[in-house]
Amino acid sequence: MTASSLADIDLADPQTFLDQDLPALWRRLRAESPVHWNPPSGRNPGFWVVSRYADVHAVYKDNRRFTSERGNVLTTLLQGNDSASGKMLAVTDGHRHREIRNLMLKSFSPRALAPVVDRVRARTSRLISEAVERGEFDFATDVADHIPINTIGDLMDVPPADRPKLVDWNNQTLSRHSSQHSELEEFLARNEILLYFSALAQERRRNPGDDVISTLATGEVDGEPLSEDEIVFNCYSLILGADESSRMSSIGGILALARYDGQWRALKDATVSVDTAVEEVLRWTTPAMHFGRRAVVDAQIGDTPVAAGDIVTLWNSSANFDEAVFADSLRFDLARTPNKHVAFGYGPHFCLGAFLGRAHVGAVLHALREQVSGIEVLGEPRRLFSNFVHGYSSVPVRFR
Ligand code: HEM
Repeated sequence: MTASSLADIDLADPQTFLDQDLPALWRRLRAESPVHWNPPSGRNPGFWVVSRYADVHAVYKDNRRFTSERGNVLTTLLQGNDSASGKMLAVTDGHRHREIRNLMLKSFSPRALAPVVDRVRARTSRLISEAVERGEFDFATDVADHIPINTIGDLMDVPPADRPKLVDWNNQTLSRHSSQHSELEEFLARNEILLYFSALAQERRRNPGDDVISTLATGEVDGEPLSEDEIVFNCYSLILGADESSRMSSIGGILALARYDGQWRALKDATVSVDTAVEEVLRWTTPAMHFGRRAVVDAQIGDTPVAAGDIVTLWNSSANFDEAVFADSLRFDLARTPNKHVAFGYGPHFCLGAFLGRAHVGAVLHALREQVSGIEVLGEPRRLFSNFVHGYSSVPVRFR
């Protein structure tokens, strides 16, 4: 469906993302109203919708005038704050953000991650070969759901038996599978995750290992240990960040490869490199559709003035298809270079796990190239019900 008037569109409503022809909507916003006012609706205040690449980039870069401290996704921005503000990396700015980020970066350098990446490759290769043997299966639940949670589980040393319940809770927090899930369920699931990590962090304080939870539990900023809240919220953010977006990029990648046979062949014949293919899958799928900020002072985005206190949402899912930056932007082109997409954001909050996110998608593409000769989608994939994560919770496929 295409709305006749942009004023009728409500981007806070997850249903919009199921009802609208999204590429057409983004194209129209970029052309007609690049810094667009989404009017208030129900109890929600209005907010700005930024859709052009250059404007999205500029706001991401400027965390002095556009802060994350009052929320960085629509759900929390519309509520007015984020309970993890000033404690969790993604919703902290300034000195404390830089210091905690530097502490965590030690666990995320490519060198520190090399053994983790080897395990991702081995695990993915095994999952894909089991899938080939089975023939018909659900790529989302049988394959993709098992990759990132185990990576981040290894990095945090989460006991393997606990990982499936973390995936379940995570599924209920940001991207509800349907409109039937209630906000209460989301809230309860989030609390379960926080309680779980609180217990684990206490244990690691007593018996530290070389996992990320131990780094947080024993690390110091300005000569002081992190608070209990800082440790627990940052564990939560790793699970949130690591699991769902990586799963969604692999699942969307499978759908794109099944649809564009020429690109699948190019991957198979190795006429494109896995590295450029990974970037295009990330651009094409853009799992985190938006992030957001609040203006700290009166400012200008493009030609539009925004006032101090306004909510500003940055639509990666539009910026990554901006024809001013990406030639033939609606073409899935695994050889695309340059490909400076903003699937991982940009600037001070650039995704901490980008290397791992890339490793996840790369492992899937490698394994497909090595072990699969054809991909066939067998039924209608089930889309997530979300204004934040774009993706699918079920994709029945057949591998040959
Ligand atoms: C931040 C996307 C994988 C952890 C971000 C941001 C984006 C993003 C767009 C910027 C948020 C903002 O500006 O407010 C993605 C995508 C992924 C992915 C698309 C996979 C394909 C991961 C993984 C991890 C992770 C694997 C952890 C292991 C984080 C953290 C932040 C972040 C901790 C906050 C960084 C900060 O505020 O300084 N991610 N992410 N992400 N991501 Fe990811």
